[in-house]
Amino acid sequence: MSAPAAVLAGLGGYVPPRTVTNEELSRRMDTSDAWIVQRTGIRKRHWADPGVATSDLAVEAGHRALKSAGAGAPDDIGMVVVATATPDQQIPATAPDVAARLGLGPVAALDVAAGCSGFVYALATASAALVAGYAERVLVIGAETFRPFLNPADRSTAVIFGDGAGAAVLRRGTSDEAGAVQSVDLGSDGAFKDLVALPGNGSRHRSTDRAPHPDDQYIRMDGKEVFVHAVRRMAQSSAVALARAGWRVDQVDHVVGHQANLRILDALARQLGVDRSRVVTHIEQVGNTSAASIPLALADAADQGRFQPRDRLLLTSFGAGLTWGSAALTWPEITLT
Ligand code: UT7
Repeated sequence: MSAPAAVLAGLGGYVPPRTVTNEELSRRMDTSDAWIVQRTGIRKRHWADPGVATSDLAVEAGHRALKSAGAGAPDDIGMVVVATATPDQQIPATAPDVAARLGLGPVAALDVAAGCSGFVYALATASAALVAGYAERVLVIGAETFRPFLNPADRSTAVIFGDGAGAAVLRRGTSDEAGAVQSVDLGSDGAFKDLVALPGNGSRHRSTDRAPHPDDQYIRMDGKEVFVHAVRRMAQSSAVALARAGWRVDQVDHVVGHQANLRILDALARQLGVDRSRVVTHIEQVGNTSAASIPLALADAADQGRFQPRDRLLLTSFGAGLTWGSAALTWPEITLT
């Protein structure tokens, strides 16, 4: 039976032009191409140039997604949701600026802060708004500029993260259409908030009236601990999203997981019982782009012609918070620009 649903109507990705290879990093810090490739799968990433902020990348990706959604799309966008862990500023949110620069008029605009799970959280926010009738079309963007928050003295984070943005237009439609979001699962566990953190810029630190320690201005991560949580939570959340969609795991054509580490995606495939050939990977080219990783992976795979209309996709993500989220959707008939 068909029901109101969010339907994917357009997609676009953007990475800044500057490519940073593992070789380049190994000239700057105590690391090597062999270590990075073996432990993470990453071969290169893109870093935004000085002066380029998250909104700049978000506008590029947003523009491409609007174009992909077809002529006239900007006219009926009713909401912009920007998922980011690296907003331009503490106040205001990044989304209103992005909406204004895309010429979308006086639309609802908000940021979602859910770390690397941000895109799935934003997708869920958009789906809810569409199904409730608050908007006819929503522009969802995951965008990050990590380079300024990477401690050059911390090789365990400096080689991982990359900059970029991915965007999707969702429209109000029905669950039987190609491209319809079938289910969502979201979760969090704040007891592990210190596993991935950037403590220096928040009210907790400011309330002490002490200048933050220089290290607190950079992202830090307990990679080993996070790895274990990531695999477990993405597998559990995927199972919930699949059950809500009424899909068996063997019916899933493509698993598009958060691109944090190739070994995490391998372990996830094993836990889910999905053949590795059905797991989409993009981390090799862009590193961990946090909230941008899923839409960038989608855009890359779509660009390569990997998806057919009505293929079944499982998106699953995990990040700081801790947060996690999954969504089941079918692939639409869309054109990327
Ligand atoms: O996106 C948000 C969620 N984040 C994640 O899901 C990330 C999850 N974690 C990971 O992907 C992995 O834990 C990392 C890639 C971050 C690290 O890989 P690992 O296999 O867990 O390495 P490790 O931290 O256990 O470090 C192993 C060794 C250590 O040396 P010792 O103590 O064995 O001598 C590290 O100091 O590797 C060393 N190491 C490095 N060596 C060369 C750490 N980083 C580097 C590096 N180059 N860049």
